[in-house]
Amino acid sequence: MKFFIDTANLDQIREANDLGVLDGVTTNPSLMAKEGIKGKEAIFQHYKTICEMVDGPISAEVLGTTFDEIVAEGKELAAIHPNIVVKVPMIKDGIKAIKWFTDNDIQTNCTLVFSAGQAILAAKAGATFVSPFLGRIDDSGWDGVQLIEEIVQIYNAQGYMTEVLAASIRNPLHIVRCASAGADVCTCPLSSILGLLKHPLTDLGLQQFLKDAQSMK
Ligand code: E4P
Repeated sequence: MKFFIDTANLDQIREANDLGVLDGVTTNPSLMAKEGIKGKEAIFQHYKTICEMVDGPISAEVLGTTFDEIVAEGKELAAIHPNIVVKVPMIKDGIKAIKWFTDNDIQTNCTLVFSAGQAILAAKAGATFVSPFLGRIDDSGWDGVQLIEEIVQIYNAQGYMTEVLAASIRNPLHIVRCASAGADVCTCPLSSILGLLKHPLTDLGLQQFLKDAQSMK
């Protein structure tokens, strides 16, 4: 399973990249706004900077919602860097635009996916990635990982090439369960990636080893 970081914060991207296990980055308008990025020039420059930092797919989300707007914006975003993946919302015009991008060799990430039916449509349109938001499903009282399992099963049964990108990760256990469900990619906040490191027995064991190492000097 590939690891993407779900942020537009350059320090966090750098920290995750320095670990050596980062395969890509996803952003969305809320994450970009959180960094105080304003205006087209600044937005494009920020994506360019991320592409120069991380060698892997970088999702950049369109802001338009009509077919013409999405295609025009997506073409401009894709021209920033070969690693840009145009992130398109799961709406009717979004699906039409994803099909257009597929036919024109532009990579896409179909976002805001909350059902298996939506994931089937995204795959039919040829999306490179599909992003089911499992944390938001959990937040609403359903089981987000169950949706990941269902989509993986359908894609395997149908031979769809679209990669399942588990999104809206809230904790390290989500990452573990997505790996077990067969997700192709997990996009996570830095805290969840670092959370995978933690175990109290590791800390206790290391403490003892360091103490015993001292006695050997
Ligand atoms: C997906 O690519 C989105 O950016 C993201 O995972 C949404 O997560 P949230 O539910 O924490 O906002």
